[in-house]
Amino acid sequence: MALGRVKKTMAVAVAVVVVLAVHFTRTMALDPTVIVIGAGMSGISAAKMLSDAGIKNLLILEATDRIGGRIHKTNFSGLSVEMGANWVEGVNGPQVNPIWPMVNKLKLKTFFSNYDNLSSNTYQQTGGLYKESFAKAAFDMADKLSEFSTNVSTSLTASRLEDISILASQRLMNMVPSTPIEMALDYYNYDYEFAEPPRVTSLQNTEPLPTFTNFGEDVYFVADPRGYESVVYDIAKQFLATNSAGKITDQRLKLNKVVMEIRYSPSGVIVKTEDGSIYRGGYAMVSASVGVLQTNLINFQPDLPRWKILAIYQFDMAIYTKIFLKFPYKFWPTGNGTEFFLYAHETRGYYPIWQAPVGRVYFTGEHTSEHYNGYVHGAYLAGIDSANMMIGCIKKKICKFQIMPKGT
Ligand SMILES: *[C@@H]1O[C@H](CO)[C@@H](O)[C@H](O)[C@H]1NC(C)=O
Ligand SMILES: *[C@@H]1O[C@H](CO)[C@@H](O)[C@H](O)[C@H]1NC(C)=O
Ligand SMILES: *[C@@H]1O[C@H](CO)[C@@H](O)[C@H](O)[C@H]1NC(C)=O
Ligand SMILES: *[C@@H]1O[C@H](CO)[C@@H](O)[C@H](O)[C@H]1NC(C)=O
Repeated sequence: MALGRVKKTMAVAVAVVVVLAVHFTRTMALDPTVIVIGAGMSGISAAKMLSDAGIKNLLILEATDRIGGRIHKTNFSGLSVEMGANWVEGVNGPQVNPIWPMVNKLKLKTFFSNYDNLSSNTYQQTGGLYKESFAKAAFDMADKLSEFSTNVSTSLTASRLEDISILASQRLMNMVPSTPIEMALDYYNYDYEFAEPPRVTSLQNTEPLPTFTNFGEDVYFVADPRGYESVVYDIAKQFLATNSAGKITDQRLKLNKVVMEIRYSPSGVIVKTEDGSIYRGGYAMVSASVGVLQTNLINFQPDLPRWKILAIYQFDMAIYTKIFLKFPYKFWPTGNGTEFFLYAHETRGYYPIWQAPVGRVYFTGEHTSEHYNGYVHGAYLAGIDSANMMIGCIKKKICKFQIMPKGT
């Protein structure tokens, strides 16, 4: 049920560095209060939250020529396919996943992904399906292993012990998946969801998984020609001006603005872009992905504090490769209960990351979501959380935050 998450797929951007002769003009009165960097789900969510709170002096700088970030469609062989996030994950549970009503409001075409019949659809290496009873036993064992891992995770948390990997918890049970079907299921349960193997996946952040525990275990595949990105556009249009054709024309959204430098001091921030523009603001909300932050495409002046740099560098941007193939005819079983079957490919991925602002520079993005990192709703909720912290600082002068780096 992967890819409902905003997969941390990185586009390789070639930045042309322009050396600028810079002189600052004093136009402080007209400066935006907040400069939001990045117009993906979290940046747009944060900007809307700020706008709703009356902070309308905003400027959104987006590096590409569109909004949506890693929620992005393309035309493949006459069909619209999603390059990034594809599922609404976590539906029909005790709480409402905030993305679900947005998808339904827009009447985006979705399909319930039914994995229930997977044990009838597990192929052997030597060809053909496993016998269902045999496969079923392996599925039951994998469920038990997951339940055991959840128990270990809960007990680690209760005794305030260090986090371990999922693989370490499997070793504790002396049940490291080793047969082909056990490994395929392990892959399905973990790599497919987290884009990395259990060896490097945090136990405490995944077992139990807040997305499924809180929002439900159902996942819906978004397959609408308008694209999953429609939800980001819909949020944007609730606070940005549009023309009669519904196109965003608001001058506060600036596309093709590649941010190169963020200067910050107790009196505000100065943001420089690749094309030589300079923007001043009271605060910056950085929603660039952790992958962009790691490549140092944005130069922070002064350098970010060491704990923040460590937090950024500690995490891997997993590369989740989606491959779309078009065949001249259907050679696979079709019909109810045959949509999914097990297969494997290489991935690498996630660790948890902490969220905390640095002076007047705040960070947001799915990677800053404590419970929902890696997911579209994580990006959306992180935008709201980060904006609320900033609003508290701007309006109530409460600029001290509980979230502190480990060890302080
Ligand atoms: C994709 O491109 C083809 C050819 O350019 C066009 O006919 C088709 O309508 C496009 N489909 C979508 C979903 O954008
Ligand atoms: C997990 O913990 C529950 C509650 O304590 C217990 O009933 C269950 O047997 C445990 N499961 C495993 C696989 O250890
Ligand atoms: C597909 O199967 C599920 C149960 O596995 C059933 O609830 C559903 O009605 C079926 N759909 C169709 C179109 O047969
Ligand atoms: C489950 O999958 C098998 C094998 O593809 C198929 O024959 C069967 O009809 C499916 N069962 C249900 C309930 O969908």
